[in-house]
Amino acid sequence: MKITTLKSYEELSSTVANIVERQLKKQPLSKLALPTGSTPRGMYRELIKRELDWSHTITFNLDVYLMNVNHPESYQSYMKKNLFDRTNIYPDHCHFPFRPTSAFEDKIAGSMGIDLCILGIGSNGHIAFNEPGSSFLSRTRVMDLTEQTIVDNSRFFDDVGDVPTQAITMGLGTIMESKKIVLMANGDHKLNILNVAMNGEVTEEVPASVLQNHDSVKVFYCD
Ligand code: F6R
Repeated sequence: MKITTLKSYEELSSTVANIVERQLKKQPLSKLALPTGSTPRGMYRELIKRELDWSHTITFNLDVYLMNVNHPESYQSYMKKNLFDRTNIYPDHCHFPFRPTSAFEDKIAGSMGIDLCILGIGSNGHIAFNEPGSSFLSRTRVMDLTEQTIVDNSRFFDDVGDVPTQAITMGLGTIMESKKIVLMANGDHKLNILNVAMNGEVTEEVPASVLQNHDSVKVFYCD
């Protein structure tokens, strides 16, 4: 698969923001699947600057930690701070995975599916929180986070012991039903896993490798 290397984090952020902007302008009633984490922050900043009309847009976050949603590091807090509170999107249109997870799946299906899914990638090849070994057919479910993910994400918390150990994540099967997918990766520590996932063996041990089976995926990287 082609990996497009961009010159800077700013270019990565504006390139993916351009894709989101085009989607919202072409189809105001778009359903987006959205990531959190450090990689997409710049893209969200770009989108806010552009003052787009989000009033018809529906969002589904890829994953949430199982934790108090009011905690500053919850993904609900992240989305409010980085996007939702700074656009005209309706809070009722913003969905996060919840239990029963089948009801979250029903919400996606009831909205006629995801038009554009933006992904990051974890250092172990996870997408959303589908950790290595996740079935390619998996649906939204509770996932135990791996030690690697907990350590990677401890940078957002005071102590590694404060990092939630479980999350609710969209499944790989759910993600693969998106009409279009864009994966963004930032930092040379992601380059190896990105190459393995996009051009190595398609295996459940490398969850992002499932994207090789999708016919509309764009992959952007900057170091
Ligand atoms: C978070 C998510 C995760 C992250 C991945 C990379 O919603 O879906 O898969 O995209 O863990 O995180 P960062 O961007 O912090 O390196």
